[in-house]
Amino acid sequence: MIDLLELHKHFIAPHIRPHAAAIDCTMGNGNDTLALSRMLGETGRVYAFDIQEQALENTKKLLEAENAPENYILILDSHAEILRYIPENEDVCCVMFNLGWLPGADHSTFTLRESTMRAVDGAVRLLAPDGIILVAVYPGHPEGKLEGEMLYEYFKTFDRRQWCVSRVQIINSPTSPYFFAAEKK
Ligand SMILES: C[S@@+](CC[C@H](N)C(=O)[O-])C[C@H]1O[C@@H](n2cnc3c(N)ncnc32)[C@H](O)[C@@H]1O
Repeated sequence: MIDLLELHKHFIAPHIRPHAAAIDCTMGNGNDTLALSRMLGETGRVYAFDIQEQALENTKKLLEAENAPENYILILDSHAEILRYIPENEDVCCVMFNLGWLPGADHSTFTLRESTMRAVDGAVRLLAPDGIILVAVYPGHPEGKLEGEMLYEYFKTFDRRQWCVSRVQIINSPTSPYFFAAEKK
């Protein structure tokens, strides 16, 4: 069976360049931060955001336990503030979002449309040519469904000459996670 979250890596890999930067906008337990840290290697940089201290702790532990390259900056703040943290001249080749709540923690903190929109819009501004933005959506809960609908309306207006935006979704399982991949030419 296709594992959609595994499929992420196939979309991201061709866009990763040495000396570039990636941003994980939803750090959570650090699995995506770890994957990006490894892909970027010693010469790259990974910025990761989360609003929960627990996420930073879990991620730091994971990165240390896995001997990840020391190329990461963990930021305890909302991804809505992305433009305040990432230097304008940073060479951003990949931005990832894995929306929803922190697995294994209290489900009362989850991503919300307003901040998600600001963050995705910031990512669009920061992304370098040939970069990718990947957003995993969880339509099985009401806010997740609405985030997905909002992002569909947003991405579908992108100029085809500059962007290719795909939505990858299991069509006979409407509540399963799916993702948007926005590739910049
Ligand atoms: C599904 S989890 C991310 C999973 C993570 N990428 C991993 O590999 O484990 C979603 C995360 O988004 C975080 N989050 C919610 N709102 C946020 C915001 N405004 N800014 C940054 N992170 C946020 C939650 O705290 C949660 O840890």
